[in-house]
Amino acid sequence: MDKIVEIEGLSKAYTQGHEQILVLENLDFSISKGEFVSIVGPSGSGKSTFLNIVGLLDDVYSGEIRLFGKRLEDMDEAEKAVLRLKNVGFVFQFDSLLPEFTILENIEMPARVLGSPAKGRGLELLERFGLEVIAGKFPMEISGGEKQRAAMLRALCNTPALLIADEPTGNLDRHNSGVILDDLRRAADMGTAVLMVTHNEEAARRADRALRMAGGKLTA
Ligand SMILES: Nc1ncnc2c1ncn2[C@@H]1O[C@H](COP(=O)(O)OP(=O)(O)OP(=O)(O)O)[C@@H](O)[C@H]1O
Ligand SMILES: [Mg+2]
Repeated sequence: MDKIVEIEGLSKAYTQGHEQILVLENLDFSISKGEFVSIVGPSGSGKSTFLNIVGLLDDVYSGEIRLFGKRLEDMDEAEKAVLRLKNVGFVFQFDSLLPEFTILENIEMPARVLGSPAKGRGLELLERFGLEVIAGKFPMEISGGEKQRAAMLRALCNTPALLIADEPTGNLDRHNSGVILDDLRRAADMGTAVLMVTHNEEAARRADRALRMAGGKLTA
C-alpha cells in the first residue's frame, strides 16, 4: 500500500515554566492511501498535539517523519508550506468558515489561496456529497451540521492526500455525526488518507483502524 505518512520515534515536549512536559514519547505511526484511521484517548493525552505535527503546523519535535516518502528534515519551510497547502486538509471541531463568503466560495478558498481557480470543483464536491442546496448560502444561514460538512468539503477541495479531522463530530447530534462519518468514509474511498480524532467510541469503530493515544504512544 502507498504510505502517505510514516513516523518513527516521535517525541514532543512542552516547556511550562521551568518544567518540561513530555506529551508524545517515542511514538510510531503510519497511514496509507485511502485508509481511514481513528484516534481516541483521554483529554490532554496529546491527540491534537500529534495532529498538529502530522499536519505540518508544528515542527518542534524529535523523531523522523516522512510524508509521501520524503523526510521532513530534508525540506525547507517553503517546501513544507506548499506540501501542506496542496496535500493536507484540516477539519477542526469549531466552525471556521468565513462569514462574509458563500459556502461555495468558502469551499473553493484553498484553491484560490494556491492561485489555481477551483474550476467547478466546489460545486462538484457539493453535488457529490448532496449539499448543492447550500452552495449560495452564507455560513449564518446553515445549520451546525451543514457547517461542519462544508468545512470538510473545503478541506477536500484541493484533493488532499491526507485529511486531518480533530473531533469533527464534537458538536453534533447522532444523526449528523453519522452523516459526517459517512462523508469521511467517502473521502477515504476516493483515495484520501483520513486521520480522525474523536471522543466517541462508536465513531472510532467506523474507521478501518482504531488507535488509542495513552502514555505518549499510539496503540491498536
Ligand atoms: N502550546 C502548549 N503549551 C504547553 N502545553 C501544551 C500546549 N498545547 C497543549 N499542551 C499540553 O499538552 C497536553 C496535550 O494536549 P493536547 O491538546 O494535545 O491534548 P488532546 O489529547 O488533544 O486533548 P483534548 O481531548 O482535550 O482535545 C496537555 O497536557 C496540554 O495541556
Ligand atoms: Mg484536542
